[in-house]
Amino acid sequence: MSGSRKVMVTGGAGFIGANFVRYWSEKYPTDRIVVLDALTYAGNPANLESVAAGENYRFVHDNILDASAIDELMQQEQIDTIVHFAAESHVDRSIHEPDAFIQTNVIGTNNLLMAARKHWIDSDNAPTTHLFHHVSTDEVYGTLGPDDPAFTEQTLYAPNSPYAASKAASDHLVRSYHHTFGMQVTTSNCSNNYGPYQFPEKLIPLMIVNAVTGKPLPIYGDGSNIRDWLYVEDHCRGIDRVMNKGHRGATYNLGGNNEWRNIDIVNQLCKSIDAAFAANAHLAEQFPDAPAAKGKNTESLVTFVKDRLGHDWRYAIDATLAETELGYEPQENFESGFQLTLDWMLNNEAWWRAVMDGSYRDWISKNYSAAG
Ligand code: NAD
Ligand code: TYD
Repeated sequence: MSGSRKVMVTGGAGFIGANFVRYWSEKYPTDRIVVLDALTYAGNPANLESVAAGENYRFVHDNILDASAIDELMQQEQIDTIVHFAAESHVDRSIHEPDAFIQTNVIGTNNLLMAARKHWIDSDNAPTTHLFHHVSTDEVYGTLGPDDPAFTEQTLYAPNSPYAASKAASDHLVRSYHHTFGMQVTTSNCSNNYGPYQFPEKLIPLMIVNAVTGKPLPIYGDGSNIRDWLYVEDHCRGIDRVMNKGHRGATYNLGGNNEWRNIDIVNQLCKSIDAAFAANAHLAEQFPDAPAAKGKNTESLVTFVKDRLGHDWRYAIDATLAETELGYEPQENFESGFQLTLDWMLNNEAWWRAVMDGSYRDWISKNYSAAG
């Protein structure tokens, strides 16, 4: 696609969505960006502060479960591109409360597809080009053993958690709108992201926050589970490639070429935090409860806890298709990406304190009315 697009970004106040909005508005400043976000516990307008003043940017507080709100917004803004991030995204929450995952991830995705079909395919005023890009996960493919080859786009779906099952359903819906109605769609399935603005319920930001506040570092099971880690900006670059160069109707796997056992990630993180405190005496004053502030190793906080139910053992991505067809290549390795993330967390204490103590929710309820 070329020229100025009118892009609706669902879930743009969440972790990856906000990084994507910043990335896209810098790279394509003439595109209009309309963020549609319900501001659930995971959505935070502070994540979008740096783009909020842009003249080509609008934030809309609404819910993808509200089909008429989506319809109205698409009409009003003449949207021709949707980048769909909005989702319930945390596996642990899906174990305790699967219903919200079915609602947002399945019904919400279908609402967006129905509105897109109405405005892009059935309408007399349809835009000349359109694109629905769906952001999905490697978790739809299930789990791997130690010697299994990495997931390719041909790997059969075998989702194991309610989260993964709801994302798998949404992937199938997107595919079906291409096949049945000729909607121009692309889908990307990526591995575990990390980086700035990630909600500290996910492994890496949770461990950093706990390490500097002197709380236990809970490792599920024996810590041998393996994930592939993708720096969030590399993911945004990958989505850009898929949207601009990918075959319509196709799916692309995006990965970081970084498979790590959880225990090794946490040990590495502990060492990096010890090194950061050793190099900068100010950190001990800023975070007096951290073991590293008291001359102890951060590793002393590691605690093995009860395993997650149905815990997938290994995810690994084969991104050959995106590499060969689209020229996709992650720029960060785990060491560089992790250092960027740690520096960001250490320099943005106010952001994660507000998230952890819930004060950002008070601010949201004062400044935003309830979304439909
Ligand atoms: P996140 O939980 O940080 O953010 C989700 C955003 O969606 C929040 O801003 C939330 O307010 C919004 N949202 C939730 N329900 C909504 C609804 N009903 N209507 C409107 N907005 C709603 O998630 P994330 O980690 O940024 O993930 C973004 C997408 O990427 C998701 O689709 C997820 O499945 C996918 N993904 C994430 C990862 C990862 O490691 N984080 C990996 C692979 C794929
Ligand atoms: P998470 O960040 O929740 O992502 P996902 O479940 O989507 O992969 O978890 C990453 C890995 O870290 C996963 O194997 C579960 C594990 N984990 C822990 O060991 N302790 C924790 O506190 C968390 C949140 C995750």
